[in-house]
Amino acid sequence: MSSGTTSGRRPIGVRIAGTGSALPDRRLTNADLEKLMTTSDEWIVQRTGIRERRIIDRSQGGSTSQLAADALKAALADARLQATDLDLIIVATMTAEMSCPASASLVANMVGAGNCGAFDLTAACSGFVYGLNVAHDLIKGGSYRTIGLIGADALSTLMDYSDAGRSTAIIFGDAAGAVILKATDDTSKGLLAQAMHSDGKGWKEIYVPRCAQDFPPGVEADAGKFDHVQMNGASVFKFAVGTFPELIEQTLESAKVAATDIDMYVCHQSNHRILTAARERFGVAEDKLYINIDRYGNTVAASVPLCFDELRKSGRVRDGQKVMFVAFGGGLTWGSSLWQL
Ligand code: UT7
Repeated sequence: MSSGTTSGRRPIGVRIAGTGSALPDRRLTNADLEKLMTTSDEWIVQRTGIRERRIIDRSQGGSTSQLAADALKAALADARLQATDLDLIIVATMTAEMSCPASASLVANMVGAGNCGAFDLTAACSGFVYGLNVAHDLIKGGSYRTIGLIGADALSTLMDYSDAGRSTAIIFGDAAGAVILKATDDTSKGLLAQAMHSDGKGWKEIYVPRCAQDFPPGVEADAGKFDHVQMNGASVFKFAVGTFPELIEQTLESAKVAATDIDMYVCHQSNHRILTAARERFGVAEDKLYINIDRYGNTVAASVPLCFDELRKSGRVRDGQKVMFVAFGGGLTWGSSLWQL
């Protein structure tokens, strides 16, 4: 374990030393949803591209932290490291079991990480991409050498699986994905550009009310909506279709690289139509923007690292490539992280 001051250290790079992911066994297909609410497989596939998602079973011990710990263990094994090698654990999530302790503390205990630092980062669907930027710069600054970053969410715990919740319940699924970031002497590795943005005026486009005071002005407080995601789908869609390309353009410009120089775009899986619109705008080949939303739905902070783990494991992403991570979500928040692997 090494953390502390940095004075006099030589420049360092940051590499992604391992990845892992975790998914609940339980599948929730569009056909299952048809039995719970007024919807159809055809509508869901056409509007979102989603065919099924995974959801935890809380009666069997399923939780955000458990998924996060499983993903982290897989990433540590991939990096051939022990949990005690970690200096810091960051969990990006909006579904921590409790407001205290942080999921990261539970995860540190589950994996046996000893006394390393542990905190949660909340930026909804942008959480993991924000985390990549934060963790990278903590290592680059020299204070930390090995960080476990996890994106984990179990939105099924915030869904209303009835007609009243049909516009959100069809979208979200549960998962976790993790990366191990490590200091390296190879200074060519690490971030080429990054961006983190928010627009707090847009908070009411996606929120989870806990009490009557949480509803936006003009919206009647309804106890039936407590602890259920409230989303203005059409306006988030519009925001995303505009923001995604703008963010990609801005990040490419600041790194001084062309859209075609990027080997893979790893984007938040929000809606097939949003992803396709962004890809077409940049003339990016179909196989350079990964899509797995059909199998897992929108897994919030887990969606980007879950894609990345699948891409690495299948050999489609390798050391030496340039990879752009992009996400947007509640807050409103949006962010990018362009890496030289
Ligand atoms: O991770 C970031 C957060 N979220 C997002 O990125 C979500 C972005 N938004 C979206 O993906 C889309 O807005 C949705 C998939 C949520 C909705 O698609 P839409 O094309 O924007 O539909 P809509 O909300 O405008 O609703 C169209 C119609 C409505 O009926 P009327 O008023 O036209 O008669 C809805 O009541 O579809 C109806 N509808 C449904 N029908 C069948 C809404 N949900 C459903 C459903 N099944 N599950």
